Amino acid sequence: MQLRPPLLRLCGGTIKIRMIFPPPRAVIIGASSGIGRALAVQLAQDGYSLGLTARRLDLLETLQKELPSPAVIQTMDAANPEESVKLLEELIGVLGGMDLIVINAGINKPNPDLLWEYEKEITQINAVGFMALADFSVRYFLEKGSGHLAAVSSIAGLIGSPRSPAYSASKAFMATYMEGLRFKLAQSPIAVTDLRPGFVDTPMIQGAKFRFWMASTEKAALQISRALRKRRKVVYITRRWLLAAWLLKFMPRFVLERIVSRVKR
Ligand SMILES: NC(=O)c1ccc[n+]([C@@H]2O[C@H](COP(=O)([O-])OP(=O)(O)OC[C@H]3O[C@@H](n4cnc5c(N)ncnc54)[C@H](OP(=O)(O)O)[C@@H]3O)[C@@H](O)[C@H]2O)c1
Repeated sequence: MQLRPPLLRLCGGTIKIRMIFPPPRAVIIGASSGIGRALAVQLAQDGYSLGLTARRLDLLETLQKELPSPAVIQTMDAANPEESVKLLEELIGVLGGMDLIVINAGINKPNPDLLWEYEKEITQINAVGFMALADFSVRYFLEKGSGHLAAVSSIAGLIGSPRSPAYSASKAFMATYMEGLRFKLAQSPIAVTDLRPGFVDTPMIQGAKFRFWMASTEKAALQISRALRKRRKVVYITRRWLLAAWLLKFMPRFVLERIVSRVKR
């Protein structure tokens, strides 16, 4: 995949310099569509100055024009972790700092034939890219003395997926990694939030046969924004997915296997 040249642009309008109470600054990795895009709109309404990244520049530019507050945009491919970290550092510089980062970028590709190319790409973006950006952010927040790291894992991380094992495994990786970071940062002022959506109506799940309890992106973004404000540790989006999580945790594995093989058919 070809990486677009890095591009930094400030919102067309005037940027008000608020000397006394500068607005909080949030970066969203993967803001061009779906949950990340809706969250950008929500956080802008909440008063954040935003740094927004994704691969598709045209979508970021359209979003930038729609937002009520200033936003800096930056093309970034999370499949390239070292370069992504460098670009994030530049973005933070232009934004004037970072108080919150939401690592939302992710892909899912059904892979019934276990094509290595797909398994590798999913793992590279969802797990390796996430880890590089999360580690950099934690180091940044430790130096700054405060901050909030959040990332979008999934309810899918609680059960192996027969259609896309790499996807469910990458989400389990994210959840466990964030737990490790949370334990590491327990005595610090830095918060870590694991956001676990069920089904959200986004391009990612278009065409999926098996979907229920679907939330709109707006509803998901609103619940995420509330959870971030409360600095929650683990959040199910929407809340009813907590019930599914509980079932997945305690259901005997042989029952689960039967259900999964029925759904697969
Ligand atoms: N929708 C659901 O039901 C659901 C459920 C559970 C978890 N999730 C998780 O929610 C997150 C957002 O997904 P979504 O449903 O909103 O899907 P989406 O509309 O496809 O959004 C995915 C976002 O990630 C970005 N992205 C993908 N690959 C990237 C890369 N290599 N580098 C940088 N950015 C990249 C995309 O931007 P570009 O393509 O422009 O780069 C886009 O902004 C994902 O992590 C997904 O696993 C979704």
